[in-house]
Amino acid sequence: MDSEKRLKIAIQKSGRLADMSLQLLEKCGIQLSKSRDQLLCRSQNFPLDVFLVRDDDIPAFLATDVCQLGVLGQNVLREKQAVDNGKFVGLVEELPLGYGRCRLSIAVPQGFAYDGLASLQGKTIATSYKGLLGAYLTANNISADIVTMEGAVEVAPRTHLADVICDLVSTGNTLISNGLVETDVILQSEAVLVKNQIADAEIAQLCDKLMSRIKAVQRAAQSRYIMLNSPTDSLAAIKAVLPGSQSPTVMPLQGRDDMVAVHAVCEEGVFWDTMEELKANGANSILVVPIEKMLD
Ligand code: PRP
Ligand code: ZN
Repeated sequence: MDSEKRLKIAIQKSGRLADMSLQLLEKCGIQLSKSRDQLLCRSQNFPLDVFLVRDDDIPAFLATDVCQLGVLGQNVLREKQAVDNGKFVGLVEELPLGYGRCRLSIAVPQGFAYDGLASLQGKTIATSYKGLLGAYLTANNISADIVTMEGAVEVAPRTHLADVICDLVSTGNTLISNGLVETDVILQSEAVLVKNQIADAEIAQLCDKLMSRIKAVQRAAQSRYIMLNSPTDSLAAIKAVLPGSQSPTVMPLQGRDDMVAVHAVCEEGVFWDTMEELKANGANSILVVPIEKMLD
């Protein structure tokens, strides 16, 4: 392999997704120089260059092949595609990352007589998401005026810039503190790994390698290693309770004919009620431990 070739990934410089995205790369064993002011961080132990940019700019970095991968909210990618599909059609959502969850919603001031989408007919709606909002309104046969704002959308009704708004909602606190009520969810969003149409075979291979590490990190994060002692004659019942584990290891316990040790990787959450059910089936000494890395 040509040792000069490097994969390039764009992630958000600051904001909601920035820390989680850097942590994800770290968990994949990728070491980066720590400076946040730089646009570009080169990894010393993986052929990866990390571009730290505004999330709004990430789709353009991918479309122009400055980067082959990007981590961004689905809301950002889908908005760009809604506004200019020709330019961004080749960008593919490869992997949901499970963080940065939010939704794009329509919200109306308290006291606004809202009775379904028809109430928005002829109204003025402030948003930073004119592509997604426009498509949603068109699909629902509503004609309304869209006022585009870059930020502080939530103040638009109070300042009479608009009747209602369409903005991202995460905790809902911004809506509450501005006297707004959420009425319609246009899009559920989370951070995704986005890929462009990678032409170079070696770069594609690097990309596959990084993706398989990310998938392994995700699996490990949701998996637990569980150890317990089980009465030999309730082994079948115990196995049935273990969540998402294919073939547990069963070992003899020294000096005991009636008990065995059971070790298993559970790929689903192990909750208190699971543990209580195991105990009710005769298990004891139940230990649940996190898994740092796993690779099949
Ligand atoms: C988003 C959105 C709301 C806020 C909602 O803004 O525009 O203002 O988050 O979050 P909440 O439901 O948890 O209150 P963001 O902080 O991303 O900054 P921006 O407005 O500058 O885009
Ligand atoms: Zn905001």
